[in-house]
Amino acid sequence: MFEHLKEQPADKILALMGEYRADPRKEKIDLGVGVYRNAEGVTPVMRAVKEAERRIVADQETKAYTGMAGDPAFSDAMIGLVLGEAVPRDRIAAVATPGGTGAIRQSLELIRLASADARVWLSNPTWPNHPSIINYLGIPSKTYRYFDEATRDVDFAGMIEDLGALAEGDVVLLHGCCHNPTGANLTAPQWEEVIALMKAKGAIPLVDIAYQGFGDGLDEDAQATRRVAAAFDECLIAASCSKNFGIYRERTGILMAISRDAEQQKVTQGTLNFLNRQNFSFPPDHGARVVTTILNDPELRADWEAELEETRNGMLALRQQLADELKRLTNSDRFEFLAKHRGMFSRIGASPDQVAAMREADGIYMVGDSRMNIAGLNSETVPKLAAAIVKAGV
Ligand SMILES: Cc1ncc(COP(=O)(O)O)c(C=O)c1O
Repeated sequence: MFEHLKEQPADKILALMGEYRADPRKEKIDLGVGVYRNAEGVTPVMRAVKEAERRIVADQETKAYTGMAGDPAFSDAMIGLVLGEAVPRDRIAAVATPGGTGAIRQSLELIRLASADARVWLSNPTWPNHPSIINYLGIPSKTYRYFDEATRDVDFAGMIEDLGALAEGDVVLLHGCCHNPTGANLTAPQWEEVIALMKAKGAIPLVDIAYQGFGDGLDEDAQATRRVAAAFDECLIAASCSKNFGIYRERTGILMAISRDAEQQKVTQGTLNFLNRQNFSFPPDHGARVVTTILNDPELRADWEAELEETRNGMLALRQQLADELKRLTNSDRFEFLAKHRGMFSRIGASPDQVAAMREADGIYMVGDSRMNIAGLNSETVPKLAAAIVKAGV
């Protein structure tokens, strides 16, 4: 039967990583893959994670299954981190999932089960795995304008115009913070306008929050998600712990589904448990236990927050340095957007030819749509990148 299989399209970022590894040049710079790296190019295990793991290894007495939804303490801790007090607890159903990707997958399965006609609206552009999973599941989808290639800011007028065509029961996928791949984000008043429009249309939000703490701060980055969650009767939130806890390979995420009341929440929770059971049964526990240990221990939590804050400020400093360097080289403010963007990524607006030219001439590897990972830089490589950007004529 395998002879019927077709080649699947190669993952562009993984292919880029392969090219980078094969490049013998010492000066090469990897701005491709979406993983945080410090100034030494290392993706470190965070201090609080190491300590939490030490405690878990020392104290854990069983590896028996947890629950189908994962450990309830993980759900409580993550609901607190992401939603704060925005929504009454008895309206929130939650399941642990393998990473944020697992949470997105389960949210889409829930949507498909609840409403076969619902269309899912995606920002153009968005994280490529969104349309990939949606198409794989056969869910109808639409896109809304999001990015203005000229200003490198949000095309808000285009977004509002496109969302004007929402039908009742449609789902809008929104990036809670640190939009991937553009780095451009809605302002608080713009969020309010999107919420009002979606409510008027009877649409339902699906918020993907994968970078809480990488933008303006832990609470600041959750503000939009909390506002959305509080404003709607029904809402889905897929959160990832990969980036902010640096536990990428542990596959730790959570799906929260907010129902209109506590009665409905029970059915929603049962359905989420059912979907976990169909797809992978009990979710992975180790990363979730690490996260719960950190969030529930004041000392570990303070240390985690401090290290996350250093990480965030490091990326902001690199953004500012790059914007300043480009201002100096071009005598213009046209790269000011780099300091304004938030999160690990910025789309710099280079054409595919210019991206290829930077790779060939200067060993700078960024994704073909000119998304670059700011965390792939350090203070010494920033001037080299700035010079290459100018040389390529971006
Ligand atoms: C926008 C977005 N959502 C979700 C994820 C999911 O991450 P993970 O499955 O590694 O937790 C990512 C990771 O790159 C992302 O960029």
